[in-house]
Amino acid sequence: MADLSTSICGVDLKNPVLAASGTFAYGVEFAPVADLEKLGAIVVKGLSREPIAGNASPRVTETASGMLNSIGLQNIGVRAFVAEKLPQLAEFGVPVVANVFGFRIEDYVEVLRVLEDAEGLAAYELNVSCPNTHRGGLEFGVDAGALAEAVSAAKAAARRRPLIVKLSPNVSDIAEMARAAVDAGADGLSLINTLRGLAISAASRKPLLSTGYGGLSGPAIKPIALYMVHRVAATVDVPIIGMGGIATGEDVAEFLLCGATAVQVGTASFWDPGRAAELPAELKGFLDRQHIESAASLRGKLAMPQQMR
Ligand SMILES: Cc1cc2nc3c(=O)[nH]c(=O)nc-3n(C[C@H](O)[C@H](O)[C@H](O)COP(=O)(O)O)c2cc1C
Repeated sequence: MADLSTSICGVDLKNPVLAASGTFAYGVEFAPVADLEKLGAIVVKGLSREPIAGNASPRVTETASGMLNSIGLQNIGVRAFVAEKLPQLAEFGVPVVANVFGFRIEDYVEVLRVLEDAEGLAAYELNVSCPNTHRGGLEFGVDAGALAEAVSAAKAAARRRPLIVKLSPNVSDIAEMARAAVDAGADGLSLINTLRGLAISAASRKPLLSTGYGGLSGPAIKPIALYMVHRVAATVDVPIIGMGGIATGEDVAEFLLCGATAVQVGTASFWDPGRAAELPAELKGFLDRQHIESAASLRGKLAMPQQMR
């Protein structure tokens, strides 16, 4: 029987399947429809300094094999999360990763300062796909200098727990961003966040989302995510959490083969909220059928053609 256990930046996980940020609320809301204790960990909705109401509807629309969203980082704010959600999450005995974002470096630091005083967290995930108000709204994660600045400030604030930096795929060279994040102090990397996209109606001549542009996720982005995970794994030496379109146990195995140590499941939870928690058993079934002794042994074992390495 295959062993699923793994470890990310010193955090032991019973399996490599995590619920992705922004797609699994604060975890507790999914308890009636998902076996939370079967997950390797839960990454909660992005947390900001103050509550954010989010964008107007429509802010989610379906596309071919994917979903486009512009939720607008709606959340209850870091203080309410610590006071109300974190104590409830403790009941499930699943490691909790806090996803942190901001619009200025001081915002990231302040959110981390509040989380440092809280109990019941395993790690931090830094969402750098947010507009940097000091740089005209350019995302932190698309400029190596701004990324390095945000990561080093966050690393100095994150003293108690590992810092995982979640890379934006909206760049021309993901390897450069990975290197910048690791050099600035990232203990691990997660990727990919959503890809910038646009869905429109030809009849109304208008975008389908209230904001116009949105972020594309789901099976449509899996090949891009696998490519980027593979590139990043070949570039840096920190643990990688892969995500983008994962919906089956075999999808999980594919990400491990490309060099990920763990994965996150996002959009699949929108069509089946119990799906993420079923994937560890599916992965185990795949490994058993293939006579592979452990999930960890798959990591980085993709056989690439010589010229592509
Ligand atoms: C509705 C929605 C909300 C999201 N909110 C966040 C968020 O708050 N913070 C974050 O880092 N990523 C957020 N993401 C990105 C996901 O965590 C994930 O990186 C992305 O969707 C790719 O994985 P998937 O194809 O399995 O969904 C969001 C994605 C969706 C679909």
